[in-house]
Amino acid sequence: MQSTEAKRWGQKDAGMIGGGCLGVGRVLCCLALVLACAGAVAGETLRSAARGMFPMGVGISDRIGNLTNDWSLLTAQFSMVTPENCMKPNPVQVVEGRFNFTQPDAFMAFASEQKLQVVGHCLVWAKDDRTPPWFYREGTNEASSALLLERMKKHIDTVAGRYRGRVAMWDVVNEALDDGTNYLRPSGWSKACGEEFILKAFEYAHAADPGALLIYNDYNNELPAKREKLIRLVQTLQKRKAPLGAIGLQGHYEIGQVPFKDIEDTLIAMKKLGVKVVVSELDIDVIPRARWWADGGKHREELAKLDPYKEGCPPEVLRQQADDYAKLFGLFRKYAPNIARVSFWNLHDGESWLNDFPWRRVNHPLLFDRERKPKPAFDAVVRVLVSP
Ligand code: XIL
Repeated sequence: MQSTEAKRWGQKDAGMIGGGCLGVGRVLCCLALVLACAGAVAGETLRSAARGMFPMGVGISDRIGNLTNDWSLLTAQFSMVTPENCMKPNPVQVVEGRFNFTQPDAFMAFASEQKLQVVGHCLVWAKDDRTPPWFYREGTNEASSALLLERMKKHIDTVAGRYRGRVAMWDVVNEALDDGTNYLRPSGWSKACGEEFILKAFEYAHAADPGALLIYNDYNNELPAKREKLIRLVQTLQKRKAPLGAIGLQGHYEIGQVPFKDIEDTLIAMKKLGVKVVVSELDIDVIPRARWWADGGKHREELAKLDPYKEGCPPEVLRQQADDYAKLFGLFRKYAPNIARVSFWNLHDGESWLNDFPWRRVNHPLLFDRERKPKPAFDAVVRVLVSP
């Protein structure tokens, strides 16, 4: 039991790293080494380069089954996939009791045909605009905490139960920590239940699929103030013996502003707590976006017109992005024994959600461009992963 389950989510894309070089093989290996030093690391993919460290994953379109041009890039580079939207509470159960599994089922079938492991995302999204409104209502009143938890249990039983044994990892609760001064984000969930809903979500998910690695997932949770809340949450879950398997750092970063030290401090803190980390939604936006939320949103009109790289991303920007990614993967490599997965959010620049969020612009945040060709950042990442 233990070893099968460990294999289900703990798979490190096991295999030989440069081992077994004999005769002709050795010559080829040397050649590969020379080429590696000269330019791109010949023949390496993300999954081969990260072998023995962590599985490489990616969040992909729910319609991947139709996107045949994506398939070869996807399966060459990645071993795990997260559906971008179709398993979220809203699409799955927008009306109470009326579950929609058309896309999730198709997604699961595609993944199984292509021998890709699946990360389910997400059972509870602790934000009001991401929770179907009926969850919170009881007639014309607010639902009691008991009713809210009952509905949550039904949702989790139905969704995680349907894919029991076939989802390697679940994002059980998404984005429950507050960005401001509160511990938890104000929402119908925290208002009715306090942090109890998070504990219960983990218990219900574990009962529905005992073998899946269960994740608490959030953004900016490496930044010191939110990290303190994360540590508090992990300690509470541990004290209550909740089946927390890992915490997720979404990893939506901005060029030139990746918080390397905060990330490292968080990796160390989680290791100390004995909890694994997944990097769940990695991308590096080349058009800094923080001003969108600054000063009560007063720059939005101006920002909405900003689209500096619509004719292409300048080489110096791609270089800086490559350097940022290389430094990041240096950290991931250093803490690899405690990292259960590194996933990007979207397969290539043309599919990135950052072309639309938080305003519409032509973005270039990933390792592959719109032609699905590797960018300088791809080479930089592979080189860091395979370097001695
Ligand atoms: C995003 C999707 O990529 C978009 O297509 C959708 O419109 C909104 O959600 N954090 C998460 C993901 O946990 O689910 C979000 O995905 C990106 C931020």
